[in-house]
Amino acid sequence: MKDILHELEHRRADARLGGGQARIDSQHGKGKLTARERIELLLDEGSFEEYDMFITHRCTDFGMQENTPRGDGVVTGWGTVNGRQVYVFAQDFTVLGGSVSETHAAKICKIMDMAMQNGAPVIGINDSGGARIQEGVSSLAAYGEVFKRNIRGSGVVPQISLIMGPCAGGAVYSPAMTDFIFMVKDSSYMFVTGPDVVKTVTNEHVTAEELGGASTHTRKSSVADGAFENDVVALAETRRLIDFLPLSNREKPPVRPFFDDPGRLEPSLDTLVPDNPNQPYDMKELILKIADEADFFEIQEEFAKNIITGFIRLEGSTVGVVANQPMVLAGCLDIDSSRKAARFVRFCDAFEIPILTLVDVPGFLPGTTQEYGGVIKHGAKLLYAFGEATVPKVTVITRKAYGGAYVVMASKHLQGDINYAWPTSEVAVMGAKGAVEILYRSELGDPEKIAGRVKDYEDRFANPFVAAERGFIDEVIQPRSTRKRVARAFAALRGKKLDMPWKKHDNLPL
Ligand code: HXC
Repeated sequence: MKDILHELEHRRADARLGGGQARIDSQHGKGKLTARERIELLLDEGSFEEYDMFITHRCTDFGMQENTPRGDGVVTGWGTVNGRQVYVFAQDFTVLGGSVSETHAAKICKIMDMAMQNGAPVIGINDSGGARIQEGVSSLAAYGEVFKRNIRGSGVVPQISLIMGPCAGGAVYSPAMTDFIFMVKDSSYMFVTGPDVVKTVTNEHVTAEELGGASTHTRKSSVADGAFENDVVALAETRRLIDFLPLSNREKPPVRPFFDDPGRLEPSLDTLVPDNPNQPYDMKELILKIADEADFFEIQEEFAKNIITGFIRLEGSTVGVVANQPMVLAGCLDIDSSRKAARFVRFCDAFEIPILTLVDVPGFLPGTTQEYGGVIKHGAKLLYAFGEATVPKVTVITRKAYGGAYVVMASKHLQGDINYAWPTSEVAVMGAKGAVEILYRSELGDPEKIAGRVKDYEDRFANPFVAAERGFIDEVIQPRSTRKRVARAFAALRGKKLDMPWKKHDNLPL
């Protein structure tokens, strides 16, 4: 008996060593942790339950029968993050470059199936040379099995991808279909075709980092939702995000203990909006002052900064925030910000996370770049996302809410549940100057007359009261009381139930 126990431990130790000490040292030399080290940091101490540790591939081509490392280049199983269950797979670059074989993919599929069945998120740690070259088309088929599960699982359990090494070719499409992608600066990259192919085909000279590094994907392409300094920070931040999310679409988001008075007043907010309507202010200040303990997990912080998206808690419950940022492009909507916010709103709606929308929007960004780029379709994405979301929706207009952008930003007309406005709000078709220039074109040569017209327009429309008279604004609130009013609004909406008509699926303007 003792011998058998010893044998088991021996086999386990062998499997845990992955590709051997030399390759582990090489991994560390690149500033990267090993698959097992990453899992250890991601999960609560001692909570990891590993599966399929002894699996080997079955390939016999190219002498592969002589090279059958235990586990086949991926570590899989489940554990907990602050006591809540998550499934995880971590590709082991020390074993055949973390390349994906039939059995490697089967291990990933097994835990994805379990996650869907048992209702828990999937966190995938990607560090792989891609399709196992020796297995050919079998490896491609195996990727297809993973893709299929990414699609089936979308909207059922949260899926998070951490890119912690190479992720190239068709392999990028598994993370691309997950809800959030986080990358590590300087040690990870994602691209469909690498720098050599790019050079051959387009004659562009570009490094792997420039083509598909963390900075590129968080600032330019928006493929990734966050970039972190190293593996340790990326894993810690993933734990932080998991705390905001429900485990599946079968349950509500978690409610955490909170130590912040929901009735807290913030007198400083009374002067947040400057007197000059063209002067910007930082919308993040409002978000932090509304949130429990000023805790805000921002998504896509470096991309389309004219809109802010992320998670806060109110009375301990998760709330998704979408907010125009007057500091960037005056907070207007454009292609990038519409796409960014639409995807975020759809995530929240899929997982029953209520949405708080903070509005200061002068309209859509004009220009040929926008029109040729399809701002009509992209803007429609955000409109559509807000309009189809059936989760509780609370909106606060702080200043400008002009034109179509007013309607888009979770207005009453798109079934906003509670729509508040600060006294500084201007709910109108457009700003006073623009309106007067159209209505009184013949008087443009007379500045005095025009100034009078502008004043008339401002008196009539540059306020929230016309909208409030019509019930499009439920209440004009004191800025200082925003946290209290918003928290109470969401509390009143806890029992909300709203059904959309049956359909196979919608036809979101893609
Ligand atoms: C089998 C692989 C492999 C692969 C790496 N290895 N990639 N084995 N299949 N795809 C092995 C190497 O032979 C080596 O084995 C070990 O992993 C480490 O690789 P190195 O090249 O020494 O590491 P490094 O210098 O860090 O370079 C990493 C790399 C490079 C840039 C990822 O290995 C590389 O270019 N690999 C091939 C990438 C590729 O073209 N993959 C197919 C992409 S297409 P030893 O024994 O020496 O340690 C694809 C399609 C997916 O993935 C389609 C889905 C539908």
